[in-house]
Amino acid sequence: MVNTRSPKFLEAARWLLDEHRLVEKMTQELEDLSHEPRGGRQEWLDRLKSTFEQFHAHVLRHFDLEEVGGYLAQVIEARPTMAPRVDQLADEHRQLKPILSNLRAMLDDCRLEDRLVLSDCCSRVRMVLGYIDRHDKREIGMVLDTHLTDLGMAD
Ligand SMILES: [Fe+2]
Ligand SMILES: [Fe+2]
Repeated sequence: MVNTRSPKFLEAARWLLDEHRLVEKMTQELEDLSHEPRGGRQEWLDRLKSTFEQFHAHVLRHFDLEEVGGYLAQVIEARPTMAPRVDQLADEHRQLKPILSNLRAMLDDCRLEDRLVLSDCCSRVRMVLGYIDRHDKREIGMVLDTHLTDLGMAD
């Protein structure tokens, strides 16, 4: 059985940490942009839209890389008992994808003069950032638990 000290597992864990740091950076930028400036300006809205578009594309690629040959497979290989947690995280990817793409479409159509829709979009952006942040923290927690179990420090 692959253990969590193998280069393959450590490389996948390092990739996950680096990737999550990048997602956190993008999250912080979007969180800042989700607060409409006084008087709301077109360039702010354009920037919010383009930043969310980049975030959406990045997160979809992030999910795919986690699933295909990424850390999810490594965790199951190292600790088959983690399979239900891996399945749950993969299922969250499935649910998050349409949430993200629906919000992107909603933001794309949003105009500066649609005050209520704009305010709703901004709240949704913050909500979605929260979902992704909690999801990513659960992933790191699972990788850490897998490693500690492997070292005989958990269970
Ligand atoms: Fe994930
Ligand atoms: Fe992740």
